[in-house]
Amino acid sequence: MPSDSRKPLLRALAGEAVWPPPMWLMRQAGRYLPEYRAIRAGVPDFVALCTSPDKAAEVTLQPIRRYGFDAAILFSDILILPWALGHGLEFKEGEGPVLPKLRDAAALDALSLDRVADAVAPIMETVRRVSAGLTAEGFSQTALIGFAGAPFTVACYMVEGGGSRDFAATRALAYADPGLFGRLLDVLTEATIVYLSAQVEAGAEALMLFDSWAGVLSPLQFKAQVIQPTRRIVEVMRQRYPHVPIIGFPRLSGMLLGGYAGATGVQGVGMDTSMDLGLAASQVPAHVALQGNLDPMALVAGGDALQREANAILAAARAANRPYIFNLGHGIVPQTPPDHVAALRDLVRGA
Ligand code: CP3
Repeated sequence: MPSDSRKPLLRALAGEAVWPPPMWLMRQAGRYLPEYRAIRAGVPDFVALCTSPDKAAEVTLQPIRRYGFDAAILFSDILILPWALGHGLEFKEGEGPVLPKLRDAAALDALSLDRVADAVAPIMETVRRVSAGLTAEGFSQTALIGFAGAPFTVACYMVEGGGSRDFAATRALAYADPGLFGRLLDVLTEATIVYLSAQVEAGAEALMLFDSWAGVLSPLQFKAQVIQPTRRIVEVMRQRYPHVPIIGFPRLSGMLLGGYAGATGVQGVGMDTSMDLGLAASQVPAHVALQGNLDPMALVAGGDALQREANAILAAARAANRPYIFNLGHGIVPQTPPDHVAALRDLVRGA
């Protein structure tokens, strides 16, 4: 296929310096959109929304209809994988996710890889519906991104039993019982491969691995718990689906980002808000696309602050003259005014 007929996001992930850059935003579907809140109000809980293909497909498409982004990202959650493995999962109002704490071999042995494919079947139906919906609604340039949490970050929520400021119990367990923690990462790695493969078979054109808590680790632990499992996932997925690029997002990994990009074999890396794009460009192999990294709070602020921050990133990306995808440094927050998102879209398209 001649490169110009391919979707801009896929061109960037194939190593092309597309300009103006393709853009999408992490958590682009969510509570800041009134049309999302309307659908969310009609379901008993968040897991029910993720496993209702008609509703999940609808909310995936909502931000595309509003803003015409270059990518739709499957509406689901990284914690659907532990749920699919038979580990409990609940989202409590105003509290975030709550899971049983996984601290011993009995809890680990209770996880069942065999359940995953059936459990995630409704989510594959969502992927098929979004894929068909993009075509039917004329979004021929919008790529469909599938995703999973990276094994370390998913393990963080399973060991801790929910969110945490520093995931101290998880880091302590990894030192105290590396055998157990390694086995947990192995199960999650294999489950992630099953889950991502199913998403590709259902129509995902690119994949993203969210490693939101990679930045809490020492360099040595980062190698074992972030790089190693990610490298294995990328290796298997690229062997099976050489045309499907993978974006890794080891959030807050700082100086370890360049090593991560090289060692894992990803086609793109997400930069968190704190990262300097020029420095990242000097560390990350030149064929790997950079993605990010506007401060979500600049999007809440809007106006001059938003313009200043976005323009600085665009100027650095332009100067780097390498594959680049505009995004935030972390997810959109619920208090974001939807018209600020439209203003940002116009600014990036006009770059
Ligand atoms: O980006 C998208 O639009 C696609 C959907 C998506 C969600 N979560 C929907 C969601 C994606 C890609 C995620 C990833 C995710 N989920 C991550 C990695 C990225 C990051 O933010 O660091 C993590 C750590 C999670 C776990 C998670 N899910 C938490 C901690 C919470 C509670 C906090 C919160 O924002 O409420 C969720 C819930 C969640 N996932 C919501 C959405 C839209 C809000 C739930 C609701 O609507 O009630």
